[in-house]
Amino acid sequence: METKKIGYGVLGLGIGMAHAEAAAASEHAELVALCDKDEKRLHRAAELYPSAACYTDAEALFADPNVDVISICLPSAMHADYAVRAMEAGKHVLVEKPIDITCERAARIEQARQRTGKRCGVVVQNRYNLNMYPIKQAIESGRLGQLFLGTFAVKWYREQSYYDRGGWRGTWEMDGGGSLINQSLHTVDLMQWLMGEVESVSSSMDIFAHNIKTEDATVSTVRFKSGALGTFVSTTCAYPGVSTEICVYGTKGSIEADADRLKLWKMSEPVGELDEDEEEETMLTRYGRGNRAAAKEEGKLYGHRFVVEDMILAVRDGRDPLVTPTEAMKSVAIIEAIYESAKSGKTVYLDGSC
Ligand SMILES: NC(=O)c1ccc[n+]([C@@H]2O[C@H](COP(=O)([O-])OP(=O)(O)OC[C@H]3O[C@@H](n4cnc5c(N)ncnc54)[C@H](O)[C@@H]3O)[C@@H](O)[C@H]2O)c1
Repeated sequence: METKKIGYGVLGLGIGMAHAEAAAASEHAELVALCDKDEKRLHRAAELYPSAACYTDAEALFADPNVDVISICLPSAMHADYAVRAMEAGKHVLVEKPIDITCERAARIEQARQRTGKRCGVVVQNRYNLNMYPIKQAIESGRLGQLFLGTFAVKWYREQSYYDRGGWRGTWEMDGGGSLINQSLHTVDLMQWLMGEVESVSSSMDIFAHNIKTEDATVSTVRFKSGALGTFVSTTCAYPGVSTEICVYGTKGSIEADADRLKLWKMSEPVGELDEDEEEETMLTRYGRGNRAAAKEEGKLYGHRFVVEDMILAVRDGRDPLVTPTEAMKSVAIIEAIYESAKSGKTVYLDGSC
């Protein structure tokens, strides 16, 4: 007997178009509804997906009985309000990153999830870049030994026109900050996912190259609960967009990576038949060429395709998606602590309340 496909709806059609594409590509779902208050965007999306119902009002989307799951792809500070309303209307939700701009708002999503019994996932797709699996495994299996240092940097570039578009980016009210919360959230998430819980941060920030009220550069020194040290840098001023650096160092080895490529893999205690150099060559050949090449070899999805498919399968199978609100709040707590430290000039200790 054929099982009914999950009815998928998308609210907000900027990055929401990647959600629509992923839902349309899934064999377990049907893209049944699209919603954006911007009629031009809605019209463009409707041309691509003519069988989906189109709404300019989110309440009409929430009331559509064909919709089982909604991707919330609105400006960041709207996530909690709309995710809660969608769950209360009986829909499962996949929320874009950041879950919202503060822990307090993120907690409202978690409370609604518990109250309604709906499934709620959050998009932090970089955990599922193909080069991340071996890094996580090397840490968890103990091959890197005791982690003592993690250095992370997001050296990106955005023109002023980027901040002017939509009117919400680079504002405290709607974006929750600048280069750190918007461009670097994924790497903050990877930092805590790979290095473990953060104990304290000591940070500075400033505005160098944009007419915005928040920041376009931050630097932080980090102390992890494990005792390890770290640094985190974010900027949208590094012309023309230079790198994402994800570097972890343990007592038995070092790994350095870009967003989706391994760059260095040095293990002082080789296992199996390969010596240190042969192992590095094998790893860089496999995971040093980016998601597309590695995905072909591994037969895996990545990016929004992976996260949307996980959400669809979670609903179909009655399980939680891989990243739940509680998990997604961890990066927001670190970001709040960094902003607090940069504003106060003091070291901020995370109290674990988020
Ligand atoms: N996971 C990722 O890599 C990734 C990438 C880009 C953006 N994002 C996140 O996705 C979210 C959206 O970012 P974006 O770049 O797509 O922004 P955007 O401004 O391009 O798109 C947001 C859309 O929401 C619509 N909208 C706003 N209020 C609405 C309402 N009340 N009802 C219906 N539609 C409404 C706007 O018209 C707009 O089309 C942000 O939180 C951002 O951080 C995540």
